[in-house]
Amino acid sequence: VSVYLSRPDLLRVAIAGLGQLGGDIAKSVVNFPALKLVAAADPRDGARTAFEATYGGRAYPTVKGLCTDPDVDAVFIATPSALHCEHVVMLAEHGKHVVLTKPMALTLEECDQMIEAVERKGVVLVYGTGGMPFRPSYLAMRRIIESGRLGRLRAITHFAFSDWMLRPREPHEVQVDGGLLLNQGPHAVDAIRLLGGGMVRSLRGATVDMDLQGRPCAGFLSAFLEFQDGTPATLLYNGYGYLFGWEFTPWADESSRLAALANSYKFRRQLRGGKTNDSQIKEQSRFGASEAADFRIQRGQGIAQAEGWLPSDDGTIIVHCERGAIRQSATGLWVYDDEGRHDEPLPPEAGASPEANEIQELLRGIAGGPVFRNGRWGKATLEVVLALAQSSDTRQEVLMKHQVPVPVGI
Ligand SMILES: NC(=O)c1ccc[n+]([C@@H]2O[C@H](COP(=O)([O-])OP(=O)(O)OC[C@H]3O[C@@H](n4cnc5c(N)ncnc54)[C@H](O)[C@@H]3O)[C@@H](O)[C@H]2O)c1
Repeated sequence: VSVYLSRPDLLRVAIAGLGQLGGDIAKSVVNFPALKLVAAADPRDGARTAFEATYGGRAYPTVKGLCTDPDVDAVFIATPSALHCEHVVMLAEHGKHVVLTKPMALTLEECDQMIEAVERKGVVLVYGTGGMPFRPSYLAMRRIIESGRLGRLRAITHFAFSDWMLRPREPHEVQVDGGLLLNQGPHAVDAIRLLGGGMVRSLRGATVDMDLQGRPCAGFLSAFLEFQDGTPATLLYNGYGYLFGWEFTPWADESSRLAALANSYKFRRQLRGGKTNDSQIKEQSRFGASEAADFRIQRGQGIAQAEGWLPSDDGTIIVHCERGAIRQSATGLWVYDDEGRHDEPLPPEAGASPEANEIQELLRGIAGGPVFRNGRWGKATLEVVLALAQSSDTRQEVLMKHQVPVPVGI
């Protein structure tokens, strides 16, 4: 499986956008011997200076700099969502492979432009950074479904409770980039599509805007999806930060998590009073800022790693089969069958981490192998996410036209 991952400096990579996600990507890619981090692009001076000081590569003020740098083979794109299309097309035109975070773009027309550019130029586009289509637990769940060990898949349930709306946000995130729906919807839909085989037939859904000051977007999503084979799936996301996904896991350390949330509650009171300085607080969590000032750490993200996996933005997924059910446990999967509940470790074939799986897919694609988490997958996920908004507006069921299947034996 990791035939490429262990080959030193196989690929020279860069990062476009050294923000919150871009900083996390930098920290992650340097752990993979197959990758050499050589460059980055960001208009913020401080981010570029910090990048050169930390990683020693070249930092450009624009993505154009990465396009014309002959030492860059592939670029991880972590720029604001409204720029994904422009940046993918520009990099593809210059022969660069790209790894793109969610959402793929803001519209299906943008997805088409991106797919056309990468296919015409013969470069690889891997979609889903940090995302669900590469998560070892979901890949392991999909393998159990395919094996038929629990009988046929009959339904999927997803629910997520997070404080997405209570984190510092730039105005464009909630006004231009699609708010919580386009930022978090793809996580849920990627996971549901991966587990259900990819081919969603229809969706009826509603988005709810609870009128939180400073957050002019829906923070609550609810949908009923049906796959082409008739399998139903439900999706629920409440991002208003009142209740949390980890409350539904018996292994969470409740007291330390509840204590850490005091900062989130304070932030909500400030939002209501119109007294937050979101841009300044978000800046403190971007690449090059001091970790102590990172709001993510102050509100408890990353505490008590010993608890193992806990649902956060990703939510909880339960797969219901004819003769059992599956959900994620702290360290692997809880598999329920006629004998009871079994805590099963993840099989090594499911990969070491989402990042390792994603890089593996990139390297395999460059070597001419199959990439299924590609532009067409990203477009199919965006189609379902946008259908949620459309269905909410029209109060009608929406039928899908651009779905792609999960290959057998992933
Ligand atoms: N924050 C997360 O944990 C997270 C997780 C998964 C996915 N994402 C996705 O990552 C993307 C960025 O989100 P973020 O939260 O990191 O935002 P952010 O604002 O912290 O980061 C965006 C970065 O892009 C830079 N940028 C802006 N215009 C640019 C341009 N023209 N060229 C190059 N760089 C430019 C900004 O200066 C900033 O550093 C979004 O699409 C989001 O959906 C974020």
